[in-house]
Amino acid sequence: MMMISSVLVIMCIALCAGAEQYTYHTKYLDMPVDHFSFATNHTFKLRYLVNDTFFQEHTGSPIFFYTGNEGDIEMFAQNTGFMFDAAPEFGALLVFAEHRYYGKTLPFGNKSYDLNNVGYLTSQQALADFVVLIRHLQQNQDRPSPVIAFGGSYGGMLSAYLRMKYPNVVIGAIAASAPIFQFTGLIPCEAFNRIATSDYRSASPACASSIRKSWAHLNNMSSTDAGRKWLNENWKLCKPLNKSSDINELKDWLQNVYTSLAMIDYPYPTNFLCQCMPPTRSQNIKYEVMCQQLYNSSMTDKVLLKSLFKAVNVYFNYTGSANCLDIESSATQNLGDLGWSYQSCTEMVMPMCTDGVNDMFEPSVWDFAKFSEECYDTWKLSQILIAPSSCMEGRTYPLLPTLSSAMDFWTRGQVVEFCPVSPPPHMQLSYQKGLTTWTCVGRILTTQCLSKRQDFFHKNRIRAWIRNFHLLPPTTN
Ligand SMILES: *[C@@H]1O[C@H](CO)[C@@H](O)[C@H](O)[C@H]1NC(C)=O
Ligand SMILES: *[C@@H]1O[C@H](CO)[C@@H](O)[C@H](O)[C@H]1NC(C)=O
Ligand SMILES: *[C@@H]1O[C@H](CO)[C@@H](O)[C@H](O)[C@H]1NC(C)=O
Ligand SMILES: *[C@@H]1O[C@H](CO)[C@@H](O)[C@H](O)[C@H]1NC(C)=O
Ligand SMILES: *[C@@H]1O[C@H](CO)[C@@H](O)[C@H](O)[C@H]1NC(C)=O
Ligand SMILES: *[C@@H]1O[C@H](CO)[C@@H](O)[C@H](O)[C@H]1NC(C)=O
Ligand SMILES: *[C@@H]1O[C@H](CO)[C@@H](O)[C@H](O)[C@H]1NC(C)=O
Repeated sequence: MMMISSVLVIMCIALCAGAEQYTYHTKYLDMPVDHFSFATNHTFKLRYLVNDTFFQEHTGSPIFFYTGNEGDIEMFAQNTGFMFDAAPEFGALLVFAEHRYYGKTLPFGNKSYDLNNVGYLTSQQALADFVVLIRHLQQNQDRPSPVIAFGGSYGGMLSAYLRMKYPNVVIGAIAASAPIFQFTGLIPCEAFNRIATSDYRSASPACASSIRKSWAHLNNMSSTDAGRKWLNENWKLCKPLNKSSDINELKDWLQNVYTSLAMIDYPYPTNFLCQCMPPTRSQNIKYEVMCQQLYNSSMTDKVLLKSLFKAVNVYFNYTGSANCLDIESSATQNLGDLGWSYQSCTEMVMPMCTDGVNDMFEPSVWDFAKFSEECYDTWKLSQILIAPSSCMEGRTYPLLPTLSSAMDFWTRGQVVEFCPVSPPPHMQLSYQKGLTTWTCVGRILTTQCLSKRQDFFHKNRIRAWIRNFHLLPPTTN
């Protein structure tokens, strides 16, 4: 399950609400549950948020359209300041569309995740929802607004896909931290974990190597009664380990902790990720505080494990109020997690592996057959998983020539770079790296996160897309 849980970190980001700052109207649109067959007439209400304060209707002003991720859409609206910042300048209508099966957009209510209902949860259906909503927004316009898609993370993938699949509907997309190459055969499966490791290594090489050594000690310790007793006491586990295989869950949890910290690499205090870290601590301090306990690379056995426990205390117990270490606290417990578990078992299979040499994790191979079996058991899928890259756009649209763009998703977020090669005009995408960019722009201070140059770059792109759109003769739908 390690593979599934690693990817679940994305979920955690999506579900933890930040402070509310932006306002909008909440609306709903009836949506067919199935866009691609004529087998059902079931419909549901898709939630979307609208801010029309800046919109210059009837002037051909654009719609800025956020393609919702795997979580409550309000969460993403509150964290996509760039759209609010740019709206006045463009006279844009701001729209945030919720992804089906998340937040309040549950096609079958609280039965949405029943095995006979969950099958309509696909990115392809979600994209079709977005298209229907966009057409609805444009329906009474004498001059249809050009639409620019925005998104980050999985939402960024959707923005990119929307532009690729429906170039007649969306004139451009700004996709941040969108790992559209994180699929079989497109990048090495260890890329993610290597990059995560480099964050720790840069805080202190001893830190990364202590973590690398710790796995063997944990295994060793958990293999005997005495060792488990020691771990249960010294690591204050809420749920004591009873047998040696119980250690696997703890190791998965640790791996998630390390990668979560690498992913929420924001240059400003954040509660975006589940109160996992003190809000006043910035990212550099974060690694330092954690790694402080692990500076001595010659520690072994109990000394090392005690230090490691102090290190992870920084993460799960920063309030000082945890009575015990609850490794289930971030495990699947809500719909969002459930949804991502399903998606990562169907279309969004993102191979992950570790080698324990170039990264600090316990070696584990990417075992597609095993993964597929687990998915089948969990979700009773009607068919064997197909190799996902063959159906995801990453391969068929080699528009982003540098593979590093995909890996950047998990690199340090504050550096923003752009795809150096212009994609062909019919699939314009503005691609930037770093989870930071889409989340913090405008939320705290524009210049803190997105430099003037980058801000300028994106706005220029948007301006050019709109100009091109108006040069073309109007299309009839
Ligand atoms: C839209 O956002 C702007 C900027 O945050 C705000 O001033 C305005 O009140 C919002 N409009 C609505 C309808 O909430
Ligand atoms: C949907 O299908 C059912 C059964 O086929 C039918 O009874 C119902 O009238 C249909 N509803 C609509 C709104 O078409
Ligand atoms: C599910 O939804 C139905 C109808 O909305 C409601 O009556 C029922 O209590 C809900 N069940 C749970 C477990 O929330
Ligand atoms: C495993 O534990 C035993 C006794 O607890 C110890 O002698 C041995 O050195 C340990 N091995 C490793 C690799 O830590
Ligand atoms: C170990 O056993 C105790 C008592 O039966 C139980 O509460 C605990 O959940 C078990 N631990 C694990 C990891 O299953
Ligand atoms: C590092 O750890 C080793 C083994 O526990 C210990 O002997 C040594 O004194 C430590 N060094 C420092 C500088 O703390
Ligand atoms: C959490 O932190 C407090 C204060 O530092 C400490 O007393 C407590 O033992 C810690 N809890 C755990 C589970 O380590």
